[in-house]
Amino acid sequence: MRPFADDAFHAGNSVLGRYLDALVAALSGIDAGEVATYIPQLGRADPSDFGIAIVTADGRLYRAGTWDRAVTIQSVSKPFMYGQALTELGRERVLASVGVEPTGERFNSIVLDEQHNRAFNPMVNSGAIVTASLLTRATAEAGAADMLDLFSRLAGRRLDIDAEVFRSEDETGHRNRAIAWLMLNSGMIEPEPDMVLDLYFRQCSVLVNCADLAAMACTLATLGRQPMTGDQVFSPEVTRDVLSVMTTCGMYDYAGQWLYDVGLPAKSGVSGMIMAVVPGQIGLAVYSPKLDAVGNSVRGIEVCRTFARDFGLHTC
Ligand code: DON
Repeated sequence: MRPFADDAFHAGNSVLGRYLDALVAALSGIDAGEVATYIPQLGRADPSDFGIAIVTADGRLYRAGTWDRAVTIQSVSKPFMYGQALTELGRERVLASVGVEPTGERFNSIVLDEQHNRAFNPMVNSGAIVTASLLTRATAEAGAADMLDLFSRLAGRRLDIDAEVFRSEDETGHRNRAIAWLMLNSGMIEPEPDMVLDLYFRQCSVLVNCADLAAMACTLATLGRQPMTGDQVFSPEVTRDVLSVMTTCGMYDYAGQWLYDVGLPAKSGVSGMIMAVVPGQIGLAVYSPKLDAVGNSVRGIEVCRTFARDFGLHTC
């Protein structure tokens, strides 16, 4: 795997690069929101950080602000694990365990689809834990290694786990534990919950910067083909399914308003990352750690809203 070639960088010397610089400058004054502290390590984020990156379908990178700050991917990991589960097990098997209906509830809600004995969708914690259960291996180490290989292929460079954040998640993730054991009780997951949770906490603890995440998002924009390496990570069919669920469920209980305002498939995470996909064209990643009451980055939402409006990307 090769990282971005030098000639693939387009910062302030291009129209899009200048646009992103101006966007960071224009929206830096937004100071609303709170940095997440429920996982103690996340509370250490610098609230003034604000980065944006775009990777285009032809593999070019445009970036602005603190785009190179490495932070944990958190819930933005969920669409990629879902794509891998679909790849390994097929639609039918995955749909038997996790549906595609929005919950309208918080991301860590303990609501389950009891009618079908499955989680509602793979973008909330319950569905992501079920998805992780489908991707566990014989050992926790093997599961983590396969997950890291997948994320590295998507980013186009070798990624790693933040061991401190992983430990912090593991020590404080009582609610996720409760969800996993509840699902074991009703037969929604089969493997040993501690092993499933180990994989889930590790996938949330993978370190990415905005360029990594924009490349991962762009892989979804280009029907599963990584734009810099040419690696076909997901099939076009799997990619379409992932984008569908991101569109309806990616922004939690803000998903409806998001689609109304921005109109793009997206996923957010509590570290303050948001990725958005312009199918066929662009992967966008924003990082700013102050979150609104729903758990979405305040500046991140504003970047996506402004970008979609300025470039006429809202096509729904
Ligand atoms: O399950 C958790 O608490 C986190 N590791 C992931 C949560 C997350 O990012 C939800 N996003 N808004």
